[in-house]
Amino acid sequence: MVITIDGAGGTGKSSSAKLLAQKLGYLHLNSGTLYRWITYNALQQHLNLHDSDVLLSLAKKLDYQNIDQNMVQSPEVSDNVAQVAKIPSIRELVLEIQRQYAQDKDIVVEGRDIGTVVFPDAEYKFYFTASLDIRAKRRYEQLKKNGLEVDYAQIRQSIADRDKQDMEREHSPLRKADDAIEIPTDMITVEEGVDIILAEMQLLG
Ligand code: C5P
Repeated sequence: MVITIDGAGGTGKSSSAKLLAQKLGYLHLNSGTLYRWITYNALQQHLNLHDSDVLLSLAKKLDYQNIDQNMVQSPEVSDNVAQVAKIPSIRELVLEIQRQYAQDKDIVVEGRDIGTVVFPDAEYKFYFTASLDIRAKRRYEQLKKNGLEVDYAQIRQSIADRDKQDMEREHSPLRKADDAIEIPTDMITVEEGVDIILAEMQLLG
C-alpha cells in the first residue's frame, strides 16, 4: 500500500510522513532528499547545475542508501535544489529509484509530484498546505535548532523562490492531485496532521 503526501516545503509533510509511517509500521521515503543528495554532490564537485548530461552522469553513480541527512538540509542545497529538480532526465531517474524502492511495500512517500506522477494510483493521497509566513517560521526554528546562523527574511525569500520554481516548472510541477485530500497545517501540530490522515483513511475504507 502506498500513501502519498505532497506539498511545499515547511508545510509539515516530512514530520507527519515520518510519524505516520512509524504509527502504521510502514516504510517512509522522503523524495526531496534524493534531489537534495544529487544537488549536494554536484555542488561539492563544482558542477554546472544547468548541464543536464553532467548531472545525470553524477546522479547515476550516487549511493542513495547512504545519504548524509545533515548536509542535504544546508541552505546552499535548499537554494539550488529546485534548479536540479527541474531537469527532466534527473526526474526520470529519481522516479525510477522511487518506484523500485516502493515496489510491493507498505510505504509513505512524500514530495511534490508523488500523487500526480510517481504514484498516480496510490490508495491514499494527501496534500499539505500552509501560509508562507508559517512555513518560513518553521524552517527558521528548525535551522536555528540545528545550530545554523539564520536570517528570517532571507529564509522566507528562499522558500518563496523555491515555491515559484517548483510550481512553474514544465515537468511534474508541484500541484495537488485531483483525488488528494487537502490538509491545511497552519493551525495544527504534526500529531494532529497524522490524526487527520488516519481518520480520513478510516473514512475512505
Ligand atoms: O521536500 P524538500 O523541501 O526537501 O524538497 C527539496 C526540493 O526537491 C523541492 O523544492 C523540489 O525542487 C524538489 N522535489 C521535487 N519533487 C519531489 C520532491 C522534491 O521536485 N517529489
